[in-house]
Amino acid sequence: MDTFIWTPEYSVGVQLVDEQHQHFFTIANKLIVLAREEQPDRDALFALFGELGNYALYHLSTEESFFREFAYVDAEEHIAAHNVYREMVASRFTNAISDPNADVKKLAEEMALYSGEWLQKHILVMDKKFTVFFNTHGFN
Ligand SMILES: [Fe+2]
Repeated sequence: MDTFIWTPEYSVGVQLVDEQHQHFFTIANKLIVLAREEQPDRDALFALFGELGNYALYHLSTEESFFREFAYVDAEEHIAAHNVYREMVASRFTNAISDPNADVKKLAEEMALYSGEWLQKHILVMDKKFTVFFNTHGFN
């Protein structure tokens, strides 16, 4: 089962952000499991799909609010990376799943896999860069 497991290598040294990353993976995993059922409940699938999208957006906004608060030096590059994810979710998944002929199971699984894989890479490549900066502002 290729679901997402948060391990300490993903820690960014800021507890609130680590907890949000863990929750993000948890929702993605639930969606993968549900989407792989033979006949998942359609409403439950839509609900979880929406929950993942909403939580992802909430999480990105949380990070960005700290960038503003601490005047984070690499904010622009980091927000641009968040925007790539936002645009991908909107263009490839959110619009597509509202099509009445959509293959909801397939789209939901793709959305969960895309989101989890995106977050894994994003944590290691981008989020870890803010550890020292956040910590020096007393945020750990
Ligand atoms: Fe980030």
